[in-house]
Amino acid sequence: MNVLAKPADLEAAAPAGAFVEEVKFVQHYTDRLFRFRMTRPASFRFRSGEFVMIGLMIDGKPLYRAYSIASPAWDEELEFFSIKVPDGPLTSHLQKIQPGDAVLMKKKPTGTLVNDALIPGKRVYMFSTGTGIAPFASLIRDPDTYEKFDQVILTHTCREVAELKYGEDLVQETINDPLIGEFAKDKLVHYTSVTREDFPRQGRITDLIKSGKLFEDLGVPPLDPAVDRGMICGSMDMLKDTKALLEEAGLTEGANNKPAEFVVERAFVG
Ligand code: A2P
Repeated sequence: MNVLAKPADLEAAAPAGAFVEEVKFVQHYTDRLFRFRMTRPASFRFRSGEFVMIGLMIDGKPLYRAYSIASPAWDEELEFFSIKVPDGPLTSHLQKIQPGDAVLMKKKPTGTLVNDALIPGKRVYMFSTGTGIAPFASLIRDPDTYEKFDQVILTHTCREVAELKYGEDLVQETINDPLIGEFAKDKLVHYTSVTREDFPRQGRITDLIKSGKLFEDLGVPPLDPAVDRGMICGSMDMLKDTKALLEEAGLTEGANNKPAEFVVERAFVG
């Protein structure tokens, strides 16, 4: 299988409508998760929480997958958080990228997990599992998020303890950041749980909502459509089950053209 990953090779073969960007940094967390940073085209603008199509040329053809942009809009580079699927058509190759390699990025970002799709409220819950934390990595570093909400609760549930590290480092960096730390240290709450290993807090986020333990642990009232807002990002099943719980609590789903009380990641749908 021939995978083009050098900037010069890719520039020559890149399809129209795609940027060719250079990988600057790669960090592997576990055998299932890694993150990478790459150059950002000067003309590329996006809203925090949006996703973009990332790809490689494989056997002469571009292969893309949707990736949430994990870096904030003010960052001069772009960051992504990815799973590694051993026989995944894209991630089996993408997981081998090194600094100096190049990747393709389509030009137009899009997505539903944006502040504009939520009506104002007091508290925003960002519910994530696994790599679903990526769009929130962008949103928790966006000053608009803290302007809009008094409290920003980022929940992250993973199978294994080691998979939480990305989020733990991210929250620490956010709180220590000279620009965003001022807002984050008073408003940002990081709530983690693990489902397949020993950890002080165990269980799926859906079970922690259902039992009321999430709200008890946070010291806040149960979900209330008058003040609470939600954003959901994870596997298809997690999206469906978490959405059902928010609807049960009386929250309605919003979109870019019709802001409401919660939004669901649409990167993997349709
Ligand atoms: P579990 O270990 O019980 O399957 P994945 O890597 O498969 O996307 O899973 C990431 C996390 O999401 C795991 O902790 C997993 O729990 C949890 N999860 C999987 N399905 C759901 C669901 N339908 N609702 C809530 N959490 C889920």
